Amino acid sequence: MVDFENFIAENLPRIESFHPSYEEALAEMLLAGGKRFRPRLLLSVVEACEPLLVDSAMIPALALEVFHTYSLIHDDLPAMDDAPLRRGHPTLHTRYGDALAILAGDALNTFAFELLADSPFRDDVKIRLVRILAENGGTGGMVLGQALDLYFEGEALSLEQVEELHRNKTAKLIAASLEMGAVIVGLEPELQQELYDFGIELGLLFQVQDDILDATQSSEEAGKPTLHDTEKNSFVTLLGLDEAMKYADRLAERLVGQLESYEPRLRNALEPLLTSYLWRHRQD
Ligand code: IPE
Ligand code: IPE
Ligand code: MG
Ligand code: MG
Ligand code: MG
Repeated sequence: MVDFENFIAENLPRIESFHPSYEEALAEMLLAGGKRFRPRLLLSVVEACEPLLVDSAMIPALALEVFHTYSLIHDDLPAMDDAPLRRGHPTLHTRYGDALAILAGDALNTFAFELLADSPFRDDVKIRLVRILAENGGTGGMVLGQALDLYFEGEALSLEQVEELHRNKTAKLIAASLEMGAVIVGLEPELQQELYDFGIELGLLFQVQDDILDATQSSEEAGKPTLHDTEKNSFVTLLGLDEAMKYADRLAERLVGQLESYEPRLRNALEPLLTSYLWRHRQD
C-alpha cells in the first residue's frame, strides 16, 4: 500500500497568507500521528476489491483523516473536553490559542470536502462520498454525538442512550469509512449496507475501548489525558471497568462471527486490520 504518512505530508492544505502560524496550525495535528484507523478501513476495502483504485482512493482516505482530525481539535477545546495533550503533542489551543484552534478545525472540516470534490472519480461517485461524510460526520452523526456527550456530562444516561451517543459520536464515521470504500469500488448496494452496519458495530466497540483505555492507560501510553471521563457517560462510568470489558468482549466476538460469514475478498481485506483492533481493550 502506498505510504499514507507521506501522502498526508504531501497533500496538506497549502495557503499563502501573511498570517504567521495559520498554515502551520492546520498541518500540526495531521502530522502528529495517530492510528489512521478510518483511512485504513477505506483503503482496505479498496485494496481487496479493486487494487488498481488504491492510488485514487488515497484522496478520500485523506479526507476522512482530515475530517476526524478536525473533530479531535474541537473535542479538546476548553469548552468541550478541555484537554492539553493529543497524539502525544500539546493540543492546538494550548499552542495557538482557542480562536486559531477553532478556525483550524473549521478549515479542516471544509478541506475534507474540497478533497472529495477533487478526487478522481465520476461525479455521481463523488456526490455519494460527500453525502456519506456529511451525513455521518455532521448534523445527524458525529456532531450530534458530541452535543449529546457534552450536554449530558454529569447526568447519568441509560445504556440504550449511551449506545446511541457512541454510535453518533464515533461509530457513524467509522461505518462511513467502510461504506465510502464500498462506493469507490462499486460494490452492490446490499454489500455497501452490510459493510456500513458492520462499521457501526465496530465503531461502537472502538469507542467502548477508548473509554476503557481512558481508565486503564497512562496519558503517555494514550498520547492524550486519561482518567478524563469521570463526568462523562462513558461505558466505564456506566457499567464499571469489568462489565465494560465484558461488553467489549461480546461485541468483538460478534464481529469475528460476522467477519467469518463474509466473502473471502472482504474477509481478507478486513481481517489483518481488525485482528490488531478487536481486542485492544485486553492489551496491557
Ligand atoms: C479518538 O479517535 C477519538 C475517538 C473517536 C475514540 P482515535 O483513537 O482514532 O484517535 P487517533 O486518530 O488515533 O489519534
Ligand atoms: C471524541 O470522544 C470523539 C470525537 C468525535 C472526537 P472522546 O472525547 O472520548 O475522544 P478522546 O478520548 O478525547 O480521544
Ligand atoms: Mg469528547
Ligand atoms: Mg475527548
Ligand atoms: Mg475518550
